[in-house]
Amino acid sequence: MKLYTAVNQNMTMRQILKKKLSTFPIVWNTYQAVKVQFKRLWLLTYFLRDIINAYRNMYWPLHLKSNLQLTSELLFQFHKIEKGLVMPGPRRFFGQEPARAVINLLNTWDLKGLPLGDPVYLGALETLHAYKERLQSESLDKNDKVLSYVQSFLINHPTRTRLLATPHQLVSMNSDIANNPHHFDELVSIRRSVRSFTSMEVPREIIKHTVGLAQLSPSACNRQPCRVYLITDDIKKNALLALQNGNNGFGHSIPALAVITSDSAAFFDASERHEPYVDGGLFSMTLMYALSAQGLATCCLNWCVSPDKDVALRNILPLADSEVVIMLMAIGYPETDVLVPRSPRKSTDNVLVEVF
Ligand SMILES: Cc1cc2nc3c(=O)[nH]c(=O)nc-3n(C[C@H](O)[C@H](O)[C@H](O)COP(=O)(O)O)c2cc1C
Repeated sequence: MKLYTAVNQNMTMRQILKKKLSTFPIVWNTYQAVKVQFKRLWLLTYFLRDIINAYRNMYWPLHLKSNLQLTSELLFQFHKIEKGLVMPGPRRFFGQEPARAVINLLNTWDLKGLPLGDPVYLGALETLHAYKERLQSESLDKNDKVLSYVQSFLINHPTRTRLLATPHQLVSMNSDIANNPHHFDELVSIRRSVRSFTSMEVPREIIKHTVGLAQLSPSACNRQPCRVYLITDDIKKNALLALQNGNNGFGHSIPALAVITSDSAAFFDASERHEPYVDGGLFSMTLMYALSAQGLATCCLNWCVSPDKDVALRNILPLADSEVVIMLMAIGYPETDVLVPRSPRKSTDNVLVEVF
């Protein structure tokens, strides 16, 4: 009796209640079932943050204020013309609406005094020049729906940037690339997630070069929503890693941490709500391969966190409200003879579905 009281004194009310409930199987099972459902419902509140993000940041008609949104819409619009310029089949009139939109956006760019040497601005001008030339050379705009409008704009914007001339011939793989030891198949086969790094610093030039390569990844309408935050400062790195649950046992050995983000403001409305993640995944993969090709090792670190941790990350890094975190990435030189898990892949027969 004495022992029973002593145990009870150390138990919280909740524990006592649970203990009591567990003696009634029907009540106990109902309690467990309700608890599971509550947990499931509670986890759905995580979506609230996505909803708020989409509401705040993903609606161009109201939000075309930031430079990022201007850049994104400009890319989006002139990409429609770029695509029109390469379509197969007989040449047809196209691009009237996007051409007008591009001119409006370029005028806004001028008014805002944004840099005139920016590749997006220059690329848009090149596209308009190519469009004008196509309309003229093929006499596609017989009723002058847009040609003179484009012409008069270009008279005041005569800059040409041959390097950005569009369209251009697809470069085919030459034998040098095919014979390179880092041929793609090999690169893909040898990359593995590494969880043990030397303390050797990761050269900035390599990071810059590989981020440049990652920028060549495809993105929806070429809007390029990704950004890479590189953290090497120990205090910030440790604070970020403390928020993440997948680096136990090796976080301390990570010399450089990248936080890869994608900006939802680059997307026109909530119908595109998944695009930041799709583009972010493609970008991250290219970055990983580019780093592997330079002899560096990586390990993706999931950002599957509760909203409060996401807020905590934003207190450490200067993310825009519209940026979503795609993943964290450990980057460094692997320890000599480092071991990695085998991580077998499923049979390709379970992945490739040939539909006849
Ligand atoms: C989005 C994503 C998140 C990941 N998060 C973690 C993580 O938090 N911790 C970790 O040790 N590995 C993480 N990984 C690595 C995977 O475990 C690893 O890619 C997978 O097991 C396949 O192994 P491999 O990369 O060596 O081929 C992550 C991978 C991806 C793509």
